Amino acid sequence: MDYRNLRFETRQIHAGLDKNDITGSRGVAIHPTAAYRFKSCDYAAKLFELSAPGNIYTRLQNPTTSAYEERIAALYGGVGAMAVSSGMAGILVVTVSLASAGENIVVSPYLYGGTYNQFRHTLRRLGIEVRIAPSEKPEDFKALVDENTRFIFAETMGNPTCAVPDLEGLAAVAHSNGIPFVADNTFGAGGYLCNPFEWGADIVVDSATKWINGHGNAMGGVIVDSGSFPWDNGLFPQIAGPSDGYHGLNLYDTFGEAAFIMKCRVDGQRDLGTCPSPFDSYLMLLGLETLSLRVRHQVEATRSLAIYLQDHPKVKRVSYVGFDTHPSHENAKKYFRFGASGVLNAELAGDVSSTVKFVEALRLVANMTMIGDSITVVTHPASTTHKQLSETDLAAAGVTPTLLRISLGLEAVEDIIADFEHAFVKAGI
Ligand SMILES: Cc1ncc(COP(=O)(O)O)c(C=O)c1O
Repeated sequence: MDYRNLRFETRQIHAGLDKNDITGSRGVAIHPTAAYRFKSCDYAAKLFELSAPGNIYTRLQNPTTSAYEERIAALYGGVGAMAVSSGMAGILVVTVSLASAGENIVVSPYLYGGTYNQFRHTLRRLGIEVRIAPSEKPEDFKALVDENTRFIFAETMGNPTCAVPDLEGLAAVAHSNGIPFVADNTFGAGGYLCNPFEWGADIVVDSATKWINGHGNAMGGVIVDSGSFPWDNGLFPQIAGPSDGYHGLNLYDTFGEAAFIMKCRVDGQRDLGTCPSPFDSYLMLLGLETLSLRVRHQVEATRSLAIYLQDHPKVKRVSYVGFDTHPSHENAKKYFRFGASGVLNAELAGDVSSTVKFVEALRLVANMTMIGDSITVVTHPASTTHKQLSETDLAAAGVTPTLLRISLGLEAVEDIIADFEHAFVKAGI
Protein backbone atom coordinates (compact mmCIF):
# COMPACT_ATOMS: atom_id res chain seq x y z
CA MET A 1 0.00 0.00 0.00
CA ASP A 2 1.16 3.54 -0.71
CA TYR A 3 1.12 5.29 2.67
CA ARG A 4 2.12 8.69 1.33
CA ASN A 5 -1.45 10.00 1.19
CA LEU A 6 -2.21 8.95 4.76
CA ARG A 7 -1.64 11.19 7.75
CA PHE A 8 1.18 10.55 10.24
CA GLU A 9 -1.28 9.25 12.87
CA THR A 10 -2.55 6.60 10.44
CA ARG A 11 0.87 5.65 9.10
CA GLN A 12 2.23 5.07 12.63
CA ILE A 13 -0.33 2.25 13.05
CA HIS A 14 -0.83 0.78 9.58
CA ALA A 15 2.51 0.96 7.79
CA GLY A 16 4.31 -2.37 8.02
CA LEU A 17 1.26 -4.43 9.00
CA ASP A 18 1.13 -7.47 6.77
CA LYS A 19 -2.42 -7.68 5.43
CA ASN A 20 -1.50 -10.96 3.69
CA ASP A 21 -0.40 -12.74 6.86
CA ILE A 22 -2.24 -16.06 6.56
CA THR A 23 -2.91 -16.20 10.32
CA GLY A 24 -4.95 -12.98 10.20
CA SER A 25 -2.95 -11.78 13.18
CA ARG A 26 -3.77 -8.21 14.20
CA GLY A 27 -0.21 -7.61 15.41
CA VAL A 28 3.12 -8.12 13.69
CA ALA A 29 4.55 -11.53 14.61
CA ILE A 30 7.88 -11.82 16.43
CA HIS A 31 10.25 -14.06 14.45
CA PRO A 32 12.83 -15.26 16.98
CA THR A 33 15.12 -16.85 14.43
CA ALA A 34 18.77 -16.39 13.59
CA ALA A 35 18.64 -18.00 10.14
CA TYR A 36 16.25 -18.96 7.32
CA ARG A 37 15.98 -22.21 5.34
CA PHE A 38 16.77 -21.68 1.66
CA LYS A 39 14.32 -23.16 -0.91
CA SER A 40 17.30 -24.28 -3.00
CA CYS A 41 21.02 -23.67 -3.37
CA ASP A 42 20.33 -21.67 -6.51
CA TYR A 43 17.96 -19.38 -4.60
CA ALA A 44 20.51 -19.04 -1.79
CA ALA A 45 23.16 -18.04 -4.33
CA LYS A 46 20.83 -15.34 -5.70
CA LEU A 47 20.24 -13.98 -2.19
CA PHE A 48 23.95 -13.83 -1.53
CA GLU A 49 24.74 -12.00 -4.78
CA LEU A 50 21.86 -9.54 -4.04
CA SER A 51 19.97 -10.47 -7.23
CA ALA A 52 16.87 -11.70 -5.35
CA PRO A 53 15.19 -10.22 -2.24
CA GLY A 54 14.70 -12.44 0.80
CA ASN A 55 15.92 -13.46 4.22
CA ILE A 56 19.41 -14.86 4.75
CA TYR A 57 20.35 -14.34 8.38
CA THR A 58 18.92 -12.07 11.11
CA ARG A 59 22.10 -10.00 11.27
CA LEU A 60 21.02 -8.74 7.81
CA GLN A 61 17.23 -8.82 7.99
CA ASN A 62 14.30 -10.28 9.95
CA PRO A 63 10.57 -10.15 9.09
CA THR A 64 9.62 -8.40 12.37
CA THR A 65 12.39 -5.87 11.90
CA SER A 66 11.44 -5.40 8.22
CA ALA A 67 7.89 -4.43 9.28
CA TYR A 68 9.34 -1.92 11.74
CA GLU A 69 11.66 -0.53 9.05
CA GLU A 70 8.77 -0.18 6.62
CA ARG A 71 6.82 1.80 9.23
CA ILE A 72 9.76 4.12 9.94
CA ALA A 73 10.38 4.73 6.22
CA ALA A 74 6.66 5.54 5.80
CA LEU A 75 6.67 7.96 8.75
CA TYR A 76 9.65 9.88 7.35
CA GLY A 77 8.63 9.52 3.70
CA GLY A 78 12.04 7.96 2.99
CA VAL A 79 12.95 5.49 0.28
CA GLY A 80 14.04 2.97 2.93
CA ALA A 81 15.03 2.55 6.56
CA MET A 82 17.32 0.24 8.49
CA ALA A 83 16.94 -0.55 12.18
CA VAL A 84 19.99 -0.97 14.39
CA SER A 85 20.67 -1.89 18.01
CA SER A 86 21.05 1.68 19.34
CA GLY A 87 21.21 5.29 18.26
CA MET A 88 25.01 5.20 18.59
CA ALA A 89 25.14 2.17 16.25
CA GLY A 90 23.12 4.16 13.70
CA ILE A 91 25.58 7.04 13.75
CA LEU A 92 28.53 4.64 13.42
CA VAL A 93 27.01 2.75 10.47
CA VAL A 94 26.21 6.00 8.62
CA THR A 95 29.70 7.35 9.28
CA VAL A 96 31.63 4.33 8.07
CA SER A 97 29.33 3.98 5.07
CA LEU A 98 30.25 7.49 3.92
CA ALA A 99 33.75 8.28 5.20
CA SER A 100 37.07 6.44 5.20
CA ALA A 101 40.41 6.96 6.91
CA GLY A 102 42.02 10.16 5.64
CA GLU A 103 38.64 11.85 5.07
CA ASN A 104 36.75 14.17 7.40
CA ILE A 105 33.27 15.13 8.53
CA VAL A 106 32.06 18.55 9.76
CA VAL A 107 29.76 18.46 12.78
CA SER A 108 27.74 20.72 15.06
CA PRO A 109 29.17 21.76 18.45
CA TYR A 110 25.81 20.93 20.12
CA LEU A 111 25.89 17.15 20.29
CA TYR A 112 24.74 14.42 22.67
CA GLY A 113 27.76 13.44 24.84
CA GLY A 114 27.93 9.88 23.47
CA THR A 115 28.02 11.16 19.90
CA TYR A 116 30.73 13.65 20.84
CA ASN A 117 32.82 10.81 22.30
CA GLN A 118 32.32 8.57 19.26
CA PHE A 119 33.34 11.42 16.96
CA ARG A 120 36.13 12.89 19.04
CA HIS A 121 37.84 9.70 20.19
CA THR A 122 36.75 6.53 18.37
CA LEU A 123 36.53 7.95 14.84
CA ARG A 124 39.79 9.76 15.32
CA ARG A 125 41.47 6.43 16.15
CA LEU A 126 39.95 4.99 12.95
CA GLY A 127 41.57 7.82 10.97
CA ILE A 128 38.38 9.80 10.26
CA GLU A 129 38.91 13.43 11.20
CA VAL A 130 35.99 15.13 12.93
CA ARG A 131 35.86 18.91 12.56
CA ILE A 132 33.64 20.55 15.14
CA ALA A 133 32.15 23.83 13.93
CA PRO A 134 32.61 26.71 16.40
CA SER A 135 28.89 27.48 16.21
CA GLU A 136 25.78 26.05 14.57
CA LYS A 137 25.81 28.79 11.89
CA PRO A 138 26.01 27.38 8.32
CA GLU A 139 28.94 29.71 7.47
CA ASP A 140 30.97 28.16 10.30
CA PHE A 141 30.35 24.71 8.83
CA LYS A 142 31.18 25.96 5.35
CA ALA A 143 34.57 27.28 6.47
CA LEU A 144 35.60 23.78 7.61
CA VAL A 145 34.49 21.84 4.50
CA ASP A 146 37.19 20.81 2.02
CA GLU A 147 37.58 18.26 -0.79
CA ASN A 148 37.98 15.45 1.78
CA THR A 149 34.76 16.21 3.67
CA ARG A 150 32.18 13.47 3.25
CA PHE A 151 29.17 14.78 5.19
CA ILE A 152 27.79 17.45 7.49
CA PHE A 153 26.18 16.31 10.74
CA ALA A 154 23.89 18.09 13.21
CA GLU A 155 21.15 17.25 15.70
CA THR A 156 17.85 18.84 14.68
CA MET A 157 17.50 19.80 18.34
CA GLY A 158 20.67 19.44 20.39
CA ASN A 159 20.78 17.28 23.51
CA PRO A 160 20.67 18.83 26.11
CA THR A 161 20.82 22.49 25.00
CA CYS A 162 17.79 22.23 22.66
CA ALA A 163 19.75 24.30 20.11
CA VAL A 164 17.99 24.10 16.73
CA PRO A 165 20.28 24.86 13.78
CA ASP A 166 19.29 26.39 10.45
CA LEU A 167 18.52 23.05 8.81
CA GLU A 168 17.96 24.50 5.34
CA GLY A 169 21.20 26.47 5.58
CA LEU A 170 23.19 23.36 6.57
CA ALA A 171 21.64 21.36 3.72
CA ALA A 172 22.60 24.14 1.28
CA VAL A 173 26.24 24.11 2.47
CA ALA A 174 26.39 20.32 2.14
CA HIS A 175 24.81 20.23 -1.32
CA SER A 176 26.95 23.03 -2.74
CA ASN A 177 29.95 20.84 -1.81
CA GLY A 178 28.50 17.63 -3.27
CA ILE A 179 28.05 15.95 0.11
CA PRO A 180 24.97 14.84 2.11
CA PHE A 181 23.53 16.47 5.21
CA VAL A 182 23.00 13.85 7.94
CA ALA A 183 20.51 14.90 10.66
CA ASP A 184 20.19 13.26 14.07
CA ASN A 185 16.46 13.67 14.56
CA THR A 186 16.09 12.02 17.97
CA PHE A 187 14.33 15.11 19.40
CA GLY A 188 12.16 15.24 16.27
CA ALA A 189 10.42 12.10 17.60
CA GLY A 190 10.29 9.75 14.62
CA GLY A 191 9.44 12.60 12.27
CA TYR A 192 6.32 13.70 14.15
CA LEU A 193 7.76 16.95 15.56
CA CYS A 194 10.34 17.51 12.85
CA ASN A 195 10.94 15.81 9.50
CA PRO A 196 14.43 16.86 8.31
CA PHE A 197 13.70 15.59 4.76
CA GLU A 198 11.28 18.50 4.37
CA TRP A 199 14.21 20.86 4.99
CA GLY A 200 16.83 19.32 2.73
CA ALA A 201 18.46 16.61 4.86
CA ASP A 202 19.51 13.51 2.93
CA ILE A 203 19.89 10.97 5.73
CA VAL A 204 18.26 10.77 9.15
CA VAL A 205 19.46 8.91 12.23
CA ASP A 206 17.13 8.69 15.22
CA SER A 207 17.70 7.05 18.62
CA ALA A 208 14.59 4.87 18.76
CA THR A 209 15.37 4.22 22.43
CA LYS A 210 13.69 7.57 23.09
CA TRP A 211 10.35 8.77 21.69
CA ILE A 212 9.91 6.04 19.04
CA ASN A 213 9.90 3.35 21.72
CA GLY A 214 8.45 5.70 24.30
CA HIS A 215 8.35 3.28 27.23
CA GLY A 216 12.02 2.92 28.13
CA ASN A 217 11.93 -0.83 27.52
CA ALA A 218 14.30 -1.35 24.57
CA MET A 219 17.39 0.13 22.93
CA GLY A 220 17.38 0.92 19.23
CA GLY A 221 18.26 3.26 16.42
CA VAL A 222 17.06 3.85 12.87
CA ILE A 223 18.74 5.13 9.72
CA VAL A 224 16.44 6.58 7.06
CA ASP A 225 17.41 7.39 3.48
CA SER A 226 15.56 10.18 1.65
CA GLY A 227 16.63 8.62 -1.66
CA SER A 228 17.39 12.03 -3.09
CA PHE A 229 21.17 12.28 -2.91
CA PRO A 230 23.08 11.86 -6.23
CA TRP A 231 25.90 9.49 -5.24
CA ASP A 232 27.64 9.43 -8.62
CA ASN A 233 29.60 12.70 -8.28
CA GLY A 234 32.92 10.93 -7.79
CA LEU A 235 33.16 11.38 -4.02
CA PHE A 236 31.46 8.11 -3.04
CA PRO A 237 33.02 5.22 -5.02
CA GLN A 238 31.94 2.80 -2.26
CA ILE A 239 28.31 3.47 -3.33
CA ALA A 240 28.55 4.46 -7.00
CA GLY A 241 31.57 2.37 -7.98
CA PRO A 242 32.53 -1.31 -8.06
CA SER A 243 31.99 -2.91 -4.64
CA ASP A 244 34.87 -4.99 -3.23
CA GLY A 245 32.50 -7.01 -1.05
CA TYR A 246 30.10 -7.95 -3.91
CA HIS A 247 32.23 -8.90 -6.93
CA GLY A 248 32.30 -5.40 -8.37
CA LEU A 249 28.53 -4.74 -8.04
CA ASN A 250 27.70 -1.03 -8.30
CA LEU A 251 25.06 -0.30 -5.62
CA TYR A 252 23.90 2.95 -7.24
CA ASP A 253 23.44 1.33 -10.66
CA THR A 254 21.67 -1.66 -9.12
CA PHE A 255 19.48 -0.10 -6.43
CA GLY A 256 19.19 3.50 -7.67
CA GLU A 257 17.65 5.83 -5.09
CA ALA A 258 17.88 3.11 -2.40
CA ALA A 259 21.66 2.70 -2.86
CA PHE A 260 22.67 4.31 0.44
CA ILE A 261 20.33 2.31 2.66
CA MET A 262 21.44 -0.86 0.82
CA LYS A 263 25.06 0.12 1.51
CA CYS A 264 24.21 0.42 5.23
CA ARG A 265 22.66 -3.04 5.21
CA VAL A 266 24.87 -5.11 2.95
CA ASP A 267 28.15 -3.73 4.28
CA GLY A 268 27.35 -1.87 7.53
CA GLN A 269 24.96 -4.31 9.16
CA ARG A 270 26.74 -7.35 7.72
CA ASP A 271 30.23 -6.31 8.82
CA LEU A 272 29.56 -4.41 12.07
CA GLY A 273 26.81 -6.70 13.43
CA THR A 274 24.64 -3.83 14.65
CA CYS A 275 21.28 -5.58 14.14
CA PRO A 276 18.39 -5.23 16.63
CA SER A 277 16.70 -8.23 18.23
CA PRO A 278 13.30 -9.11 16.68
CA PHE A 279 11.71 -8.76 20.11
CA ASP A 280 12.98 -5.19 20.40
CA SER A 281 11.67 -4.47 16.88
CA TYR A 282 8.26 -5.67 18.09
CA LEU A 283 8.44 -3.31 21.09
CA MET A 284 9.29 -0.44 18.72
CA LEU A 285 6.28 -1.29 16.52
CA LEU A 286 4.06 -1.29 19.57
CA GLY A 287 5.48 2.02 20.79
CA LEU A 288 5.06 3.62 17.38
CA GLU A 289 1.29 3.05 17.38
CA THR A 290 0.88 5.83 19.97
CA LEU A 291 3.82 8.06 19.05
CA SER A 292 1.89 11.20 18.07
CA LEU A 293 -0.47 10.95 21.07
CA ARG A 294 2.39 10.56 23.51
CA VAL A 295 4.50 13.33 22.02
CA ARG A 296 1.59 15.77 21.92
CA HIS A 297 0.99 15.20 25.62
CA GLN A 298 4.71 15.54 26.41
CA VAL A 299 5.05 18.81 24.49
CA GLU A 300 2.06 20.30 26.31
CA ALA A 301 3.25 19.03 29.70
CA THR A 302 6.71 20.51 29.07
CA ARG A 303 5.17 23.88 28.32
CA SER A 304 3.10 23.72 31.55
CA LEU A 305 6.14 22.76 33.64
CA ALA A 306 8.24 25.50 32.00
CA ILE A 307 5.62 28.11 32.90
CA TYR A 308 5.44 26.83 36.49
CA LEU A 309 9.25 26.86 36.89
CA GLN A 310 9.74 30.21 35.18
CA ASP A 311 7.89 32.09 37.92
CA HIS A 312 9.13 29.92 40.78
CA PRO A 313 11.17 31.74 43.45
CA LYS A 314 13.45 28.69 43.92
CA VAL A 315 14.44 28.61 40.25
CA LYS A 316 17.24 30.76 38.87
CA ARG A 317 16.71 30.17 35.14
CA VAL A 318 14.57 28.15 32.79
CA SER A 319 15.89 27.27 29.33
CA TYR A 320 12.90 26.22 27.24
CA VAL A 321 12.88 26.45 23.46
CA GLY A 322 9.18 27.34 23.46
CA PHE A 323 9.97 30.68 25.18
CA ASP A 324 11.12 33.58 23.03
CA THR A 325 14.11 34.06 25.38
CA HIS A 326 15.68 30.81 24.07
CA PRO A 327 18.27 31.48 21.32
CA SER A 328 16.71 28.77 19.12
CA HIS A 329 13.10 29.87 19.58
CA GLU A 330 12.64 31.08 15.98
CA ASN A 331 14.26 28.00 14.40
CA ALA A 332 12.22 25.73 16.67
CA LYS A 333 9.03 27.50 15.54
CA LYS A 334 10.03 27.00 11.93
CA TYR A 335 11.25 23.40 12.03
CA PHE A 336 9.37 21.78 14.94
CA ARG A 337 5.64 21.24 15.01
CA PHE A 338 4.31 23.07 18.13
CA GLY A 339 7.67 24.96 18.20
CA ALA A 340 9.05 22.82 21.01
CA SER A 341 9.87 19.33 22.24
CA GLY A 342 9.44 17.30 25.42
CA VAL A 343 12.64 18.51 27.12
CA LEU A 344 13.60 21.62 29.10
CA ASN A 345 16.50 22.68 31.30
CA ALA A 346 16.20 24.47 34.61
CA GLU A 347 18.83 25.88 36.93
CA LEU A 348 17.73 25.80 40.56
CA ALA A 349 18.56 28.38 43.21
CA GLY A 350 20.82 26.98 45.94
CA ASP A 351 23.97 24.94 45.44
CA VAL A 352 25.04 21.50 44.28
CA SER A 353 24.14 19.80 47.58
CA SER A 354 20.62 21.28 47.73
CA THR A 355 20.15 20.26 44.07
CA VAL A 356 21.14 16.69 44.90
CA LYS A 357 18.68 16.76 47.85
CA PHE A 358 15.98 18.06 45.51
CA VAL A 359 16.54 15.25 43.00
CA GLU A 360 16.56 12.61 45.74
CA ALA A 361 13.34 13.99 47.26
CA LEU A 362 11.33 13.51 44.04
CA ARG A 363 8.84 10.66 44.45
CA LEU A 364 7.33 10.31 40.97
CA VAL A 365 9.99 11.83 38.76
CA ALA A 366 12.83 9.39 38.10
CA ASN A 367 16.50 10.28 38.49
CA MET A 368 17.87 8.70 35.28
CA THR A 369 19.71 9.57 32.08
CA MET A 370 16.82 9.10 29.70
CA ILE A 371 14.50 11.18 27.52
CA GLY A 372 11.23 10.44 25.71
CA ASP A 373 10.10 7.90 28.32
CA SER A 374 6.53 7.56 29.63
CA ILE A 375 8.02 8.30 33.08
CA THR A 376 9.11 11.90 33.70
CA VAL A 377 12.88 11.98 34.09
CA VAL A 378 15.22 14.43 35.73
CA THR A 379 18.96 14.29 35.08
CA HIS A 380 21.52 16.19 37.15
CA PRO A 381 24.44 16.49 34.70
CA ALA A 382 26.94 17.82 37.27
CA SER A 383 26.70 14.63 39.37
CA THR A 384 26.16 12.14 36.52
CA THR A 385 26.77 12.58 32.79
CA HIS A 386 29.26 15.43 33.18
CA LYS A 387 30.89 14.41 36.50
CA GLN A 388 34.28 13.71 34.90
CA LEU A 389 34.56 17.15 33.30
CA SER A 390 36.84 19.91 34.59
CA GLU A 391 35.30 23.17 35.76
CA THR A 392 36.34 24.85 32.50
CA ASP A 393 34.79 22.11 30.37
CA LEU A 394 31.63 22.19 32.50
CA ALA A 395 31.33 25.92 31.90
CA ALA A 396 31.91 25.44 28.13
CA ALA A 397 29.16 22.81 28.03
CA GLY A 398 26.83 25.17 29.91
CA VAL A 399 26.56 22.70 32.80
CA THR A 400 26.25 24.61 36.07
CA PRO A 401 26.15 22.83 39.50
CA THR A 402 22.37 23.29 39.86
CA LEU A 403 21.30 22.57 36.28
CA LEU A 404 18.65 19.89 35.68
CA ARG A 405 17.55 18.41 32.37
CA ILE A 406 13.90 17.40 32.51
CA SER A 407 12.10 15.13 30.04
CA LEU A 408 8.35 15.01 30.54
CA GLY A 409 6.51 11.70 30.55
CA LEU A 410 2.87 10.81 30.25
CA GLU A 411 1.69 11.41 33.81
CA ALA A 412 -0.78 14.21 34.66
CA VAL A 413 1.44 17.28 34.72
CA GLU A 414 -0.35 18.53 37.85
CA ASP A 415 1.09 15.54 39.74
CA ILE A 416 4.57 16.24 38.39
CA ILE A 417 4.31 19.87 39.49
CA ALA A 418 3.17 18.71 42.96
CA ASP A 419 6.18 16.37 43.09
CA PHE A 420 8.51 19.29 42.27
CA GLU A 421 6.84 21.46 44.93
CA HIS A 422 7.30 18.72 47.53
CA ALA A 423 10.99 18.32 46.55
CA PHE A 424 11.64 22.07 46.81
CA VAL A 425 10.35 22.02 50.39
CA LYS A 426 12.29 18.84 51.31
CA ALA A 427 15.53 20.17 49.82
CA GLY A 428 15.17 23.42 51.76
CA ILE A 429 16.14 25.49 48.75
C1 LIG B 1 20.45 13.14 20.19
C2 LIG B 1 20.89 11.75 20.52
N1 LIG B 1 21.51 11.02 19.56
C3 LIG B 1 21.93 9.76 19.80
C4 LIG B 1 21.76 9.18 21.04
C5 LIG B 1 22.26 7.79 21.28
O1 LIG B 1 21.19 6.90 21.30
P1 LIG B 1 21.26 5.49 22.06
O2 LIG B 1 21.30 5.78 23.52
O3 LIG B 1 20.02 4.80 21.60
O4 LIG B 1 22.50 4.80 21.59
C6 LIG B 1 21.12 9.89 22.05
C7 LIG B 1 20.94 9.31 23.38
O5 LIG B 1 20.47 9.96 24.31
C8 LIG B 1 20.68 11.22 21.78
O6 LIG B 1 20.06 11.96 22.71
